[in-house]
Amino acid sequence: MSVAELSGHAVGIDIGGSGIKGAPVDLSSGDFAQDRVREPTPQPSTPGAVADVVAALSARWPDGPLGVTFPAVVKDGVALTAANVDDAWIGTDAAELLRTLTGRSVHVVNDADAAGVAEARYGAAKDVRGVVLMATLGTGIGTALLHDGVLVPNTELGHLVVDGHDAETKASDAARTREDLSWKEWAKRLQRYFESLEALLQPDLFVVGGGVSKKADKYLPLLDLATPVVPAQLLNTAGIVGAAALAAEAELAGGPTGPSPG
Ligand code: BGC
Repeated sequence: MSVAELSGHAVGIDIGGSGIKGAPVDLSSGDFAQDRVREPTPQPSTPGAVADVVAALSARWPDGPLGVTFPAVVKDGVALTAANVDDAWIGTDAAELLRTLTGRSVHVVNDADAAGVAEARYGAAKDVRGVVLMATLGTGIGTALLHDGVLVPNTELGHLVVDGHDAETKASDAARTREDLSWKEWAKRLQRYFESLEALLQPDLFVVGGGVSKKADKYLPLLDLATPVVPAQLLNTAGIVGAAALAAEAELAGGPTGPSPG
């Protein structure tokens, strides 16, 4: 199924380390149908505290499928890791918790997967065939792998070991600011990271996302890769838009996190 078949509205909510953001999304354009609302992420970011914020946001837009991003591996709605969020999430059935609090079916996905789908449907990877690898460079590194627009979920290639290190500890945007790296110094690390991905996946396109993709002109021209590399187009809307699109697609497919029978 392609998203060209999607229409109407769905709601996306993006859970991040510092903010929880949501908006209803016009699925034919990938634009917000109403202004985005942002609430601070509770600290500590335990499941109950975060779920309460998500439920309050969800109540603002009661209609349409609801998709929620989470910055960890998510399988069948269950969070299996917690690299940059509270460890209490590991093993939590996030979809069930949110279903109970919101009274609606909820599709929970990895944050980078949502961003990758948003770029594939509406942004930098729209209509690109073949293998697309999106990497979001933020606090960590998230990845989304797509083939002909179809997502291979939970790739977690931000944790690829490059030169003996978990890549996100050296090449994330957080590592750049923490170590006060110049663009040139950081680009050297990105070069090692992306050439490692290139050797493993032979992609047709890299899309670089995360807040720092706004400054792509400072570092993307310094990379020397065989694969074309472009900045993301949706920037800070990608998580919300991708979560909404994936939720709508899941409902159409009648999958396990789609509407309950009856
Ligand atoms: C997590 C991923 C997540 C990425 C971006 C990584 O540390 O393991 O699941 O997508 O951070 O938030």
